[in-house]
Amino acid sequence: MDTKIIKINENNFSKLQEPAKALADGKLVAFPTETVYGLGANALDENAVKNIFKAKGRPSDNPLIVHICEKSDVTKLAREINENAQKLFDTFSPGPITIILKKQPYISDAVTAGLDTVAVRIPVHKAARELIRMSGVPIAAPSANLSGKPSPTEAKHVIEDMNGRIEYIVDGGSCSVGVESTVVDATGESPVILRPGGVTLDDIRSIIPSATIDPHVLDLDMPNEKPKSPGMKYKHYAPRAEVIVIEGDTANVSAKIQSLCKIARSEGKKIGVMLRCENETVYDADCILIAGETSRQYASNLFSNLRKFDENNVDIIFAEFKNADGMGVAVRNRLYKSAGNNVIYV
Ligand code: TXA
Ligand code: MG
Repeated sequence: MDTKIIKINENNFSKLQEPAKALADGKLVAFPTETVYGLGANALDENAVKNIFKAKGRPSDNPLIVHICEKSDVTKLAREINENAQKLFDTFSPGPITIILKKQPYISDAVTAGLDTVAVRIPVHKAARELIRMSGVPIAAPSANLSGKPSPTEAKHVIEDMNGRIEYIVDGGSCSVGVESTVVDATGESPVILRPGGVTLDDIRSIIPSATIDPHVLDLDMPNEKPKSPGMKYKHYAPRAEVIVIEGDTANVSAKIQSLCKIARSEGKKIGVMLRCENETVYDADCILIAGETSRQYASNLFSNLRKFDENNVDIIFAEFKNADGMGVAVRNRLYKSAGNNVIYV
């Protein structure tokens, strides 16, 4: 299949008409959002939805998020919106949040993986909203990467993974948040964060103080318990290179990475180091990339850096990590997963 790439900016949204029609016709279209690129299909077309799983190599028991452009469309997907869910929509949508609600009976099991709930998200990204609006249908969309790989934050990442597998890629530049939306289960008495993301626990607690975070997100050593968000259990975000996270105070982290570089060098490995910020420490590494000092910067650069290390053919990546505050919870969650929980605390 030939994949058509459509470059857009705010002055030429009319170019979205062709991919919007393709979506309505059951084709697959990758598009930018404020978090990461999504791989969209008409959520009401079961065949189209099944093709998403084929294109990504995604396990069918991992449900998809359904994207809409207006709050008034939520009731078309969900049969029950309680007071907390309403507050979450009113405060954080459109934006990087996904809200789990009891589904309408006609939402296909292919979308929800047989669950009685549906994940609903209203992106704030202008082109994403315009594309959804023009298509006239709700859009089921996971991140537009091959299953297991880092999520795409630029069109070139989508091209790497999806060229020849889908009909269209809408190129709208880089995604600003850089990690996926916060997934919140709003079906119970208090909201529970199932996947940390662009909206933090503190943000949510500022309007609903009883909100909590699923313990699996924080404690990665609970292998026998089933996480509530099915996608959280799979290998994820992994570049080709081995990733090791070194977490702790700056001086200890630097010293540890220096000694790890020495060992990796003696083993003939090509070495990558992901720094939080530029510093005085000299690392004997082949590729050094900066993530960012604040958690927001780190989030925004994380996935693209992991892909850049692969482009540079490094064998091993040492990643500095410090702040697990605010968005740092989401960064840590993605980073630990990309490392297969290979973390050294110093
Ligand atoms: O920012 C995002 O959320 C991006 C953009 C494209 O919107 N999408 C995204 O989709 O990250 P995906 O498929 O990569 O991740 C969806 C997550 C998975 O962990 C999945 O298990 C969870 O949401 N999920 C979907 N429906 C659910 C449901 N009904 N109950 C619990 N978790 C659900
Ligand atoms: Mg994903």
